[in-house]
Amino acid sequence: MVKTWIKRWLYTTDHKDVGILYFVTSFYFGFLAALLALFMRTQLAVPNNKFLGAAEYNQAVTMHGLLMVFWFLSPLGIAFANYFIPPQIGAKDLAFPRLNALSYWLYAFGGLVTFIGFFSPVARQMLAGQTIPLLHPSSSVQTLEKRLPLPD
Ligand code: HEM
Repeated sequence: MVKTWIKRWLYTTDHKDVGILYFVTSFYFGFLAALLALFMRTQLAVPNNKFLGAAEYNQAVTMHGLLMVFWFLSPLGIAFANYFIPPQIGAKDLAFPRLNALSYWLYAFGGLVTFIGFFSPVARQMLAGQTIPLLHPSSSVQTLEKRLPLPD
């Protein structure tokens, strides 16, 4: 029973099912983004608050913005489009249903990998907007380490 339920959602290529998957997943990422907004509000609630450090605050803004725009709002639009447009135009499904399902899974795993960036020192530096010196030709690993102490 549970097995068939899992299999149904894992293997589905039906446009309505994919629309529902997008809808549910976008709210999951929206919740994570809202949680980060809550952290930022907590930090900003009182002056000289030490709830978040400077790097953590930057990470929270970056991830909140990314998640809200690319993993919540845009996919929410895609969820409605998947669900409603085929019946509106009298089509049985989308032209490439398996490609459509693949797009969903790339979106879901992409979000997961992005969020897991919080646990990777390099990704955390990127989130904190500290990687620009990497692009500078005079940068070496040593000068980078001096300039960019890893946020703890
Ligand atoms: C487009 C989708 C977005 C939605 C729905 C959204 C939603 C929210 C919500 C509900 C809050 C809490 C409001 C509050 O604490 O007063 C918030 C706070 C915040 N958001 Fe967004 N946000 C979005 C995009 C962005 C982007 C793109 C950025 C910047 C890159 C951003 C930066 C911030 C910051 C800095 C705060 C904390 C402000 C504060 O609490 O005073 N947001 N966001």
